[in-house]
Amino acid sequence: MTGTGDIPCDFEAMRALARRRLPRFAFDFVDGGALRESALARNAAALDAIRLVPRVLTGATTRDLSTALLGRRYAMPLGVAPIGMANLVAPGTDLALARAAATAGIGYALSTAGTTALETIAEAAPESWFQLYVGRDPGITDDLLRRAAAAGYPVLVVTADVPAPGKRLRDLRNRFTLPLRPGPGMALDLLRHPRWALAMATGGAPRFANLEAYSPPGSSTGSLAELMAGQSSARLDWELLARIRERWPRKLVLKGVLHPDDARRAAALGVDAIGISNHGGRQLDAAPAPVEMIAPIRAAVGGAVPLIVDGGVRGGEDIMRCLASGADFVLLGRAFLHAVAALGGARGPTALIALLHDELDRAMTQSGCRRITEIDGALLHRPGDSCGGPGA
Ligand SMILES: Cc1cc2nc3c(=O)[nH]c(=O)nc-3n(C[C@H](O)[C@H](O)[C@H](O)COP(=O)(O)O)c2cc1C
Repeated sequence: MTGTGDIPCDFEAMRALARRRLPRFAFDFVDGGALRESALARNAAALDAIRLVPRVLTGATTRDLSTALLGRRYAMPLGVAPIGMANLVAPGTDLALARAAATAGIGYALSTAGTTALETIAEAAPESWFQLYVGRDPGITDDLLRRAAAAGYPVLVVTADVPAPGKRLRDLRNRFTLPLRPGPGMALDLLRHPRWALAMATGGAPRFANLEAYSPPGSSTGSLAELMAGQSSARLDWELLARIRERWPRKLVLKGVLHPDDARRAAALGVDAIGISNHGGRQLDAAPAPVEMIAPIRAAVGGAVPLIVDGGVRGGEDIMRCLASGADFVLLGRAFLHAVAALGGARGPTALIALLHDELDRAMTQSGCRRITEIDGALLHRPGDSCGGPGA
């Protein structure tokens, strides 16, 4: 299904176009999950299962989609999730996403494993967040913290759910490694996607730009990839998180939380928001869908701690489902990469943001909500419950 002109009208159409435009190994890296991809499927299925009971005659003729989070007002409760290796989709992807998000007034997080230097992103889009992987080498962690603070990042997102890399079968089957070592299969793939290959040849292959400072000049992509592999969350523990909390002077988010007890502990330690995530189904394949964990985590931490959720969100109604379930803010990962692959960095992210805005606005109108704060648990249909409480 495509939309007006050549703009795909939904996530699946965007994804289908991305599949055509990218070599298979690149599409699979973006699109794939861990092991049997059960968590990946569960993320979408759990959202599909949430039903919202619309209210009528509320006079929701005008809507305000803006929301407050972490000391700032956003145009929508939406952000671009941190994404490593984003420039594998196209050169300049990190920058295109950061700029589009800034222009639209939504969130954007640059990953430690991003392919653009954190200083460059901060200059282009000063409200961006920085996502930190805490690796084996404490010197690198300290220096990344120092650099993020010096560059003025208002929000630090510490990712907790990569103590070991996910086992991604599509990458293993495609022999996708860094640096790329094209075997016969991959070479054919590249020949079939000359536009992508040419863009990489002229625009530059993706590199772990934030780690280059920590390896000798001229290091190969391979040795940087090794450095990156050690820079996940293997060394992170509660003590270290407390140290980061002491050192980081601005807002702090812990991402990759699924257990209510971990959320409670993080809140007690002073994090400013909790990121409920299973890394888009790319880590523990048996993990629950993040949206299923919102209610128990909300019950554990109370109403004061903002909850940011991601995983499987494919449209405006999914954003609404997350908010009705108790989340304050929603991140999307793959959808933004598919948008860049499908339409390019200049048009893709902006088209996706417009699509999500339109869908959320329609869903709010159709449900009788004028403001984001009106989207709450009263909209949820729980099979077996009588909706609307006593006397309804
Ligand atoms: C290609 C790719 C790379 C990712 N890299 C990172 C990363 O470097 N740091 C991080 O915290 N999360 C990373 N994630 C997870 C996302 O931040 C987010 O949790 C996930 O994509 C949300 O699910 P969705 O893709 O279904 O929207 C990555 C996800 C993808 C798809």
